[in-house]
Amino acid sequence: MATRQISAAPRLRGALSVPGDKSISHRAVMFNAIAEGKAEITHFLPGADCLSTIACFRAMGVQIEQHADRVVVHGVGLRGLREPSDVLDCGNSGTTLRLMTGLLAGIDGMYAVLTGDASLRSRPQRRIVDPLRGLGATLDGRHQGALAPISVRGARLHGGHYALSIASAQVKSAVLLAALSGDGVMTVSGRIDGRDHTERMLAGMGIDIQTRGNVVTLTPPVHPVFPYALSLRVPGDPSSAAFWWVAAAIHPNAELTTMGVGMNPTRIGALEVLRAMGARVTVSNLRTEGSEPVADVTVASSSLTGTTIKGAIIPALIDEIPILAVAAAMATGQTVIADAAELKAKETDRIQTVVEALQAMGVRVEATADGMIIEGRGHLDATQVDSHGDHRLAMAWAVAALVARGEMHIAGSEAVDVSYPDFWRDIAAIAEQG
Ligand code: S3P
Repeated sequence: MATRQISAAPRLRGALSVPGDKSISHRAVMFNAIAEGKAEITHFLPGADCLSTIACFRAMGVQIEQHADRVVVHGVGLRGLREPSDVLDCGNSGTTLRLMTGLLAGIDGMYAVLTGDASLRSRPQRRIVDPLRGLGATLDGRHQGALAPISVRGARLHGGHYALSIASAQVKSAVLLAALSGDGVMTVSGRIDGRDHTERMLAGMGIDIQTRGNVVTLTPPVHPVFPYALSLRVPGDPSSAAFWWVAAAIHPNAELTTMGVGMNPTRIGALEVLRAMGARVTVSNLRTEGSEPVADVTVASSSLTGTTIKGAIIPALIDEIPILAVAAAMATGQTVIADAAELKAKETDRIQTVVEALQAMGVRVEATADGMIIEGRGHLDATQVDSHGDHRLAMAWAVAALVARGEMHIAGSEAVDVSYPDFWRDIAAIAEQG
């Protein structure tokens, strides 16, 4: 396990091209693997999670070339995946495990076992197992299907309806993918407000998928040319850019630009919250790349005030709560985070791990059942912290170190490889220019 030491930087300056979006990189590989034809994906995220997805599809007979952030996928078509001869290792990646379980559950003749690291094997899977069983899928797992390894016996499903009770894009996507190779229309209603990259990308591949109000409807293709291969450039990941947005906002001498970042409204709640806290944010060069909006975002030193983060915005910033908690600790006044019980189901229990680390940095912060209450203090004391193997915690504590008093020691710093392999290079680059 690696430990990094980081101290406050006198100045933060720079323009960064953040790595490709993790959610979109996964989907670009998965959906092109079952597409007809060859696709080239550029600005792909070569992080450990997305490499797990590539390895799983290779194990099912898909030829995938990968050189750094350029990937070529030779699609095998909707019925072309081969039964894997061994268990599929999803590593640390919930998106790999949950989306693939859905996809494979609908493929006739398929048998697969999906597993992952200790963190992934402790995360809840009933959220996908129950709806997929409801559609007629044959699945099992430890604790009656609650935990991975998950076994899947694929069968052609008949579509149907599912009402989402949690705003999980992984669950929504799993159900839609199960229906893709079926023979009936699938509708998903309820909390469909999680990220919509699956809907956008499948539509871009010629699949009949529509969202009206709070219902997504997918009609499986009858013609074998669908889905067709879709070459794309993956937008920069707003969840990675958010570390630099907060770094700039909380630092007294900073101006940072993140270039080519995805501006999908289901993903940029953090930007809205930072603005509400008083951050100086400029969004420029807004354009559309493929089926996603993209822009450059500049944030400069700001005086932040506490805020309330709850309700409908939560799914659009759920992965950014660790770094927003750092912003709140550096703000004036109290910040309340509520309606975010989903934090407990992430790579770590992020209510507990975030509260513990901020307390160690001298912040008055209290865990609640569905979030936390942070008393802004305007400064942080550097200390010993641990990523607990959670990439977003390693990066949040590194950003905290840029403004903290003393030297922060971050154990488990290699966790950044999951979503931002060049994070330590980039943080050195922006701080060095000070
Ligand atoms: C993701 C959805 C979110 C998010 C995760 C990636 C996706 O999880 O936290 O990092 O790619 O669909 P949930 O679906 O559990 O909300």
